[in-house]
Amino acid sequence: MTTPEIFFGGAPEVSATAPGRVNLLGEHTDYNDGFMLPVATPQATTVALARSSDDQHHLYSDTLDGNVTFAARGGSAPQGFGSYIEGCIRLMEARGVAVPPLRVFVTTDLPVGSGLSSSAALEVAMLRALRELLGIGLDDVELARIAQRAEIDYARVNCGIMDQMASSLCDERSMLFVDARTLEHRLVALPEGAELIVVDSGVPRTLAASKYNERRAECEEAARKLGVKALRDVTDPAALDGLPELLRRRARHVVLEDLRVLEAAQGVPAERFGALMNASHDSLRDDYEVSIPELDQLVAHLRAAPGVFGARLTGAGFGGACVALCRTGSAREAAEAALSTYNKAGRQGRMLIPVPTQGKEQQ
Ligand code: GLA
Repeated sequence: MTTPEIFFGGAPEVSATAPGRVNLLGEHTDYNDGFMLPVATPQATTVALARSSDDQHHLYSDTLDGNVTFAARGGSAPQGFGSYIEGCIRLMEARGVAVPPLRVFVTTDLPVGSGLSSSAALEVAMLRALRELLGIGLDDVELARIAQRAEIDYARVNCGIMDQMASSLCDERSMLFVDARTLEHRLVALPEGAELIVVDSGVPRTLAASKYNERRAECEEAARKLGVKALRDVTDPAALDGLPELLRRRARHVVLEDLRVLEAAQGVPAERFGALMNASHDSLRDDYEVSIPELDQLVAHLRAAPGVFGARLTGAGFGGACVALCRTGSAREAAEAALSTYNKAGRQGRMLIPVPTQGKEQQ
């Protein structure tokens, strides 16, 4: 284990932090030009930077892949967390920014693989640090767009814009309403008298990438058949009636999910918000088919816990985490109740938000 002092031989020149995200409503809508309502996680990633004296970029992270080195000019592309960092550097260079060889030190308390967008947090923290080090004029929306390109072109994950918008523009206390077509956005208060819990199912998202691409293709085909640019342009679910059965179900999820977000973004009571979350999960399970039995069970246990207004899977699905909206003051207890039942079947579920007190103390 290396410390920043050892790695930099002193202090870094700059350091920047960015959070992960939990999406509350609007799942699988971003690549359909639709709407979503994520919040930022209390967990975050920090990138510290200094100029390097040789012609290499030197990366280090305890929690990710340890040491990674790649040439500032030419040379082969790094793997693992290095690919996200490389993407950020190369995309800034493509905009005409002269990026010097760097020393990059990454720390994070975001769990990887739980669906809290640790990758978006890494990209946004890296771009923020570069912006500060090199005095680059770049607003937070443009920064989110570059972060998304780093993920698509360098980490080779064909994602939408939600995670990077959330990491770049969200805070923990409000939801960020995002229009994925225009990137218009505004903060929306969480329903009054409510707080969140996020619980990891302990199931890794193994199928996520291939099924994600399959769902994207199905949505594009449905939009083509309907003669619209994207499913966001369908506002009346009755317009889907002529589609083949499978495409109709996929499209119905997207169209109704957009309507749920638009309703929630106007500000609804916690009970109604919870009902919209429940409807979202059921639609992801039945129409969009991105849930798995473990997520369905965890959601059922959360819904049965005292003080819970609603619960759903969050993120792409096929594993990862669930989120629930609870009456203020009851979140921790609700999560513990749900987990004690869920984990009886030998599963490894765990609370992610509120961050377990013990975990915080250990840092
Ligand atoms: C992943 C992607 C996002 C979004 C969600 C599903 O997190 O990175 O762009 O599509 O899945 O809502």
